[in-house]
Amino acid sequence: MTFEVVQIGDATLIFGDNLAYMRAEKPRIDALIADIPYKMKTSGGGEFRKSRTYLDEIKANGTADGFDIEVFHYAMRLGCNSLVTFYSLDQEPSILRFFHQGLFDKQKPLYFEHQQPIPWQKTNPTPFCNRAYNADVEYIRHGWRAPFKLKQRPLKDMKTWWSNGNGKSEFDHPSVKPILLMRKLVRNASHRGQLVIDPCMGTGSTGVACIQLGRKFIGIEHNRAYFDIAVERLQAAYAEMSGVVA
Ligand SMILES: C[S@@+](CC[C@H](N)C(=O)[O-])C[C@H]1O[C@@H](n2cnc3c(N)ncnc32)[C@H](O)[C@@H]1O
Repeated sequence: MTFEVVQIGDATLIFGDNLAYMRAEKPRIDALIADIPYKMKTSGGGEFRKSRTYLDEIKANGTADGFDIEVFHYAMRLGCNSLVTFYSLDQEPSILRFFHQGLFDKQKPLYFEHQQPIPWQKTNPTPFCNRAYNADVEYIRHGWRAPFKLKQRPLKDMKTWWSNGNGKSEFDHPSVKPILLMRKLVRNASHRGQLVIDPCMGTGSTGVACIQLGRKFIGIEHNRAYFDIAVERLQAAYAEMSGVVA
């Protein structure tokens, strides 16, 4: 199987399916950072449906189709010792099952020696509010195992993270993550010179942070429009870091 590849400095951008790429190329991975697609019901909405065009949008672009957890299991087999993922509450059971793999069952491979949930408070929560609470806190979870060591960071860096949401209007994707937040995650989850993979690259926020912080990067995205935006963003970030006007 061949994949379309765009190389930008130490960043390798792959257009295609994440698991298919990892199985075919078996890259040696130090860390994985993922913002996985929501698994959610995009039908319904009744009389309010007309004003909820975001549901049509995420249905059409496939960002509500859910996530195959095998991507994480496979990354661990490729050497990943530090794994960070965003997730919504609906996804918590499968995410926690994965993070606890091996911790309680000594017969299974030990995935993580340490793990930490990180509450992330968004000032612009996704408006899925059909007679339900509108959750403005989501979670990020970081798990790691030897030889990876978490660096000692100032305490103020290790508590709930606030964020003023995303760059939807700027990059035309429903869940663009803020660069400041991605820089914190990249700094905490990897060391300079290591290879970070983002199997759900979207518009490339993880990749931009990796370029800025001197990490090697592999990003995989199967949506053409998002892939093209990621290429542009990473080229601009690389040019800026190299002192070249993009
Ligand atoms: C939540 S978004 C990531 C957004 C990203 N953090 C950003 O800042 O732009 C998840 C992305 O994963 C992509 N995706 C979902 N399944 C995939 C797969 N099997 N292979 C590659 N990309 C996939 C979707 O197209 C979507 O753009």
